Amino acid sequence: MNKLSIQNLKMHFSGVHALDDVSFKVNKGEIFSLIGPNGSGKSTLFNCINGFCEPQKGDIKFNDIDLINSKPHEIVKHGISRTFQNLQNVPYMTLLDNVLLGAHHRLTVRDTFNRWISQKEREREEALALEIMDFLGIANFENKYLTGQPYGIQKLVEIARALICKPKLILMDEPAAGMNDQETLEIAKIISEIRDVLGITVLVVEHDMNLVMSISDRICVLDSGKILAMGIPEEVKNHPEVIKVFLGDEAHA
Ligand SMILES: Nc1ncnc2c1ncn2[C@@H]1O[C@H](COP(=O)(O)OP(=O)(O)OP(=O)(O)O)[C@@H](O)[C@H]1O
Ligand SMILES: [Mg+2]
Repeated sequence: MNKLSIQNLKMHFSGVHALDDVSFKVNKGEIFSLIGPNGSGKSTLFNCINGFCEPQKGDIKFNDIDLINSKPHEIVKHGISRTFQNLQNVPYMTLLDNVLLGAHHRLTVRDTFNRWISQKEREREEALALEIMDFLGIANFENKYLTGQPYGIQKLVEIARALICKPKLILMDEPAAGMNDQETLEIAKIISEIRDVLGITVLVVEHDMNLVMSISDRICVLDSGKILAMGIPEEVKNHPEVIKVFLGDEAHA
């Protein structure tokens, strides 16, 4: 259950084969990493899973629900949320309100008559947002405006906004990009805790090989839209093509 299944996925942009016959499965409770050089199709795959892109061919299923014909807001309701490589925060809103944006799909449209209920809803969602921000270590900043906050905090707001969706599966697009070594260690811990403490399956795109090797149950390597290798970290680390094309000396660091 809670299995993501990608089958023979093809996504072309005119002449660019962003994804070319990609198939794999992510099991419930896994931390599954997607790696590959720039332009290999990682973010496009996320865009196909969460309904931003409509692939020309293939199937995407989550617990037997067909995601191909679903819209992004429906896919969130099916239990999949995501973070973005280029942060999608709103600078002139507080951290708390940025996080609450992720709860939007749960809120019903209210008229004046129902304002009291709406207030109750807001209180309930705020409590959840603060719980998540506390989990990520940013609860003390909730009333600060996002603009001017350190990049590391903005990245955590991005993660908090995905977590308030109450996902069963979270897609994280380069959560450690732009982070220093200490922040990257923190992100590794957070990703592990998202799985271990919150029980959420994680599909993560990352370029930081130390991070990927340390947290992943399995890794899929994309190259020019095709799967080059897939397996547990040891297998991928020692795969000759992966060493040659992607990891170089870092594989043995
Ligand atoms: N909306 C789009 N329109 C046209 N081409 C696109 C679009 N989105 C992605 N592409 C192309 O598809 C290919 C894969 O891009 P994608 O963003 O998925 O790569 P990536 O693996 O996420 O790279 P990076 O590591 O740099 O984030 C690239 O050649 C890119 O230019
Ligand atoms: Mg990308």
